[in-house]
Amino acid sequence: MFDEEESLIVSTKTEYDEVENVLRPKSMEGYVGQEKVKTNLSVFMQAAKLRGEPLDHVLLYGPPGLGKTTLAHIIAAEMGVQIKVTSGPSIEKSGDLAAILTNLNEGDVLFIDEIHRLNHNVEEILYPAMEDFSLDFILGKGPSARSVQIPLKRFTLVGATTRAGMLSSPLRDRFGVICRLEMYSVDELAEIVRRSALTLGTEIESSASVEVARRSRGTPRIVNRLLKRVRDFSAVMNHEIITLEDTKHALDRLEIDELGLDNIDIRLLTSMIDKFGGGPVGLETLAATINEDGNTIEDVYEPYLLQLGFISRTPRGRMAMPKAYEHLGKTVSPKAKKQISLFDEQN
Ligand SMILES: Nc1ncnc2c1ncn2[C@@H]1O[C@H](COP(=O)(O)OP(=O)(O)OP(=O)(O)O)[C@@H](O)[C@H]1O
Ligand SMILES: [Mg+2]
Repeated sequence: MFDEEESLIVSTKTEYDEVENVLRPKSMEGYVGQEKVKTNLSVFMQAAKLRGEPLDHVLLYGPPGLGKTTLAHIIAAEMGVQIKVTSGPSIEKSGDLAAILTNLNEGDVLFIDEIHRLNHNVEEILYPAMEDFSLDFILGKGPSARSVQIPLKRFTLVGATTRAGMLSSPLRDRFGVICRLEMYSVDELAEIVRRSALTLGTEIESSASVEVARRSRGTPRIVNRLLKRVRDFSAVMNHEIITLEDTKHALDRLEIDELGLDNIDIRLLTSMIDKFGGGPVGLETLAATINEDGNTIEDVYEPYLLQLGFISRTPRGRMAMPKAYEHLGKTVSPKAKKQISLFDEQN
């Protein structure tokens, strides 16, 4: 039932974008949860304003759909500056980045999404730009080559990535503020459902909001998508308010189980247990077995399974944990038990 376009979990950035933009909170007040990140950022922003300086460069990292792009826009809005949006893979040549940088105004936010995918030559232009607000490059070739420096306006780079580990350390070191976004609690997600329903002009029972929240893998993007789908089911049944029953019916039809797992999660766990004795098994091997993309598994599926304590990462690969067996109604084999206790001892 879930091909790539249809998936409610994997971001395809097509039909959802419009609604995503409508539902995107515009200020810190509307941004639910992430209290630590919000408090810290607010202090740094206020201090920067007091000093009359731009905010220090900010790196936002965490799994897809947790609100990195949203937060970047809020930072610009709260600082009262313009935001220029681009992404790592779309900046092909160092000249492209140089053009973007020279066009920034004092204090502007430059948002680079998927910053871990910048190519190396482009990244090198960023170092002096971030550190000294200067564009350094070599003009000419051979003995007559000389280095040229062009001063830039002071700006704030906001970088976003799902893979902080893939950032080179010189780049990472140049961020003054590094924020890790956490998965959201059910209460926080239910609050987002209520706000989104209000924005969409839909009524939803409080117990139904909680149900949508419980099945959204700690992720605001998913909570909003599920709400939209649930709203469709409810509308077709001519209900004026989305009830708990509608919600359960819709989510079951969408094959989202009570923990928010879809059929890819289930295939992943089942294959780990049935084909690889519970692991450890390498991510790529596992991905190939269920015919899915390794990067998607790592970015989109794994974070939530790790959070649930269903799988663990070991130096030799991924391993299914007792909670996963329990959820699938399977028993842990003696051999797998041994692997798990070995893992527990080491951690
Ligand atoms: N803290 C929040 N409060 C309310 N809604 C949120 C919050 N964070 C995210 N959202 C909602 O979730 C949607 C997805 O968020 P966003 O696009 O910022 O995620 P992201 O981290 O940039 O994801 P990706 O890694 O895929 O780019 C937004 O459109 C917004 O409606
Ligand atoms: Mg984003």
